[in-house]
Amino acid sequence: MKRLVIVSNRVPVPKEGLRPGGLAVVLKDLLARQGGMWFGWNGTCHPDAAHLPPEHQQAEGVEYATIGLTPAEHRNYYTGFSNATLWPLMHSLPEHIHFERRELATYWSVNQRFCENLLPLLRPDDIIWIHDYHLLPLPALLRRSGVRQPIGFFLHTPFPAPDMLATAPDGGTFLRDLLRADLLGFQTADDTANFIFAATRTAGAVLKDEDTLVFEGHVVRVGTFPVEIDPQAFARVAAAAADSQDLKRLSGSLAGRKLIFGVDRMDPTKGLDHRLAGYERMLETYPERERQVTFLQIAAESRTEVESYKALRKKLELQIGKLNAHRGQADWTPLRFLTRGSPRPTVAGYMRLADIGYITPLRDGMNLVAKEFIAAQDPENPGVLILSRLAGAANQLDAALLVNPLDHDGMADALERALAMPAAEKRERWQACWNAIANRTALGWGLSFLKLLESTARK
Ligand code: F6P
Repeated sequence: MKRLVIVSNRVPVPKEGLRPGGLAVVLKDLLARQGGMWFGWNGTCHPDAAHLPPEHQQAEGVEYATIGLTPAEHRNYYTGFSNATLWPLMHSLPEHIHFERRELATYWSVNQRFCENLLPLLRPDDIIWIHDYHLLPLPALLRRSGVRQPIGFFLHTPFPAPDMLATAPDGGTFLRDLLRADLLGFQTADDTANFIFAATRTAGAVLKDEDTLVFEGHVVRVGTFPVEIDPQAFARVAAAAADSQDLKRLSGSLAGRKLIFGVDRMDPTKGLDHRLAGYERMLETYPERERQVTFLQIAAESRTEVESYKALRKKLELQIGKLNAHRGQADWTPLRFLTRGSPRPTVAGYMRLADIGYITPLRDGMNLVAKEFIAAQDPENPGVLILSRLAGAANQLDAALLVNPLDHDGMADALERALAMPAAEKRERWQACWNAIANRTALGWGLSFLKLLESTARK
């Protein structure tokens, strides 16, 4: 069997005891099963990092090879170009884009450093799978250095529409660099279509058939691979959590009130300010709901050095204070907002206890939380999922109550509809959502990508 080499910006190095989220959860099982190496940033920052060789460690059959970043690289490559420029651009949020040429220059140089450090570790029978927006230039850098092994690339964020992409500094170069891979994977059919449109219009690639592009004589397959969770395992964790002390305390504190629940990173793409406004509008429009509900939102702090994240935090703090001050009563706090993350089993239990999962990102590549919410429910007495129609997950979970995350009245009405929903309708909607995810797994997602990558590269 070929050795799998995963390359991603952040590597969940085992010694840090990190609680993996997002990409890390999805890839961990795949690597553990296939055996292989995970290469990337170890999460540390050090002035000498650029001169140090990769550190190696082994855990559960996986080799981790990681490098550090210098403070300037962290500022310009990670905080700057990756998260202040590309992240909002990929999510079509132009008002959040901040662009500095020096940050772009560091973005290129860090990608070059990833390439230089990875090259000596590669073996002829490797299969290389690069992940996400931090590493757009890497397929081309590896090819230019003589790498002939199969290269796959998966984008976890949305791929923006062509006019949005035009705001990307060097957007054309990124496209041409990606086109050096053998297989490019996207979360939704719209993302794939946006990429094909941009590649043919801007980069001069030629569409050979619906999922094959030819660029300067090189054949590139393009495919849609919605990221999955492990629904059965998550369901077991959620059911087991129901008896925990945490859950008993939360349940007792609700005093019979319905629980509305959301959990996200505190990120401008997650639509948290609009979500709170939608909740407040519900209390305004349906005043009989006062005292009947509690909204618990976990918004774990993330990327705290990016200006737009700092601004969001300030805005939310004001909004939370006002909402509770204006709407609260002596014995009722409408909103509980926590910025500390909670362990995954506890979150799974909160999801199971919730009457409503309220997940309304402005845009999201997939949103695994929505899938987790469905998996966490008690099939006999499920909660209702209110989901942004702009999350990739809405393509599969279309039996949820889909909302426009900017429409406060629409979110208020959806909350009211969910609160009043008859049990039979709840079960029917939940069952349809469950059927959409129940037979898929994160491992299956990874294996289907790798299978296509191998067969494409062999041709
Ligand atoms: O959604 C993209 C992603 O990179 C996830 O994989 C990850 O969990 C999250 O963003 C946080 O990323 P980071 O803390 O590395 O910026």
